[in-house]
Amino acid sequence: MVSPPAWNRPSEPFAELISAEAIAARVAELGAQITADYGPLTRSSEVVVIGVLKGSVIFLADLVRRIAAPISVDFIGISSYGDATVSSGVVQITQDVSRPLEGKHVIVVEDIVDTGHTVHYLMENLATRRPASIKLCALLHKPERSERTVHIDYLGFTIPNKFVVGYGLDIAQQFRNLPFIGYVQGS
Ligand code: IMP
Repeated sequence: MVSPPAWNRPSEPFAELISAEAIAARVAELGAQITADYGPLTRSSEVVVIGVLKGSVIFLADLVRRIAAPISVDFIGISSYGDATVSSGVVQITQDVSRPLEGKHVIVVEDIVDTGHTVHYLMENLATRRPASIKLCALLHKPERSERTVHIDYLGFTIPNKFVVGYGLDIAQQFRNLPFIGYVQGS
């Protein structure tokens, strides 16, 4: 078997915060919880899992394979930070979902709830499209940075106030492909 690449070399600017194994175990738990909650609903209405581009892509890919119920997958593009590491609070939809949401059970999958501006805007926007229900699943939450009250229905991990990368999360579009979640040292 080929060994995974050794990412956390001393020369890299980050240290491990959540291991690949811990992420996989938590994602399996979230998938089981969603299966239990939504399995019965799939008999009457469509369940659509919406990934928020690009940060949720790796989490979503793992999560949906842990949901043992018929679901569809869609994506929505949001811009909030640009390449900066500080939220501007200005949120825009850059790419919309591909199909109407009316009458469907929607699960929004986000990488991280930081200030909460992005998810607050997104949930309000999607709710106007008359889904049968709408819930939020976020891999990470940084409560110390919260500026908006956001209810997270399915949460992976609560983390300290550090800028994190990996498992889909980027810094200036880099490091999304780290298999673990690391933090930028000194952040
Ligand atoms: P919020 O609007 O401040 O909650 O920010 C949400 C978005 O900012 C997330 O979907 C991420 O794309 C990005 N973000 C926030 N914190 C981090 C971080 O620590 N690492 C990488 N991206 C982050």
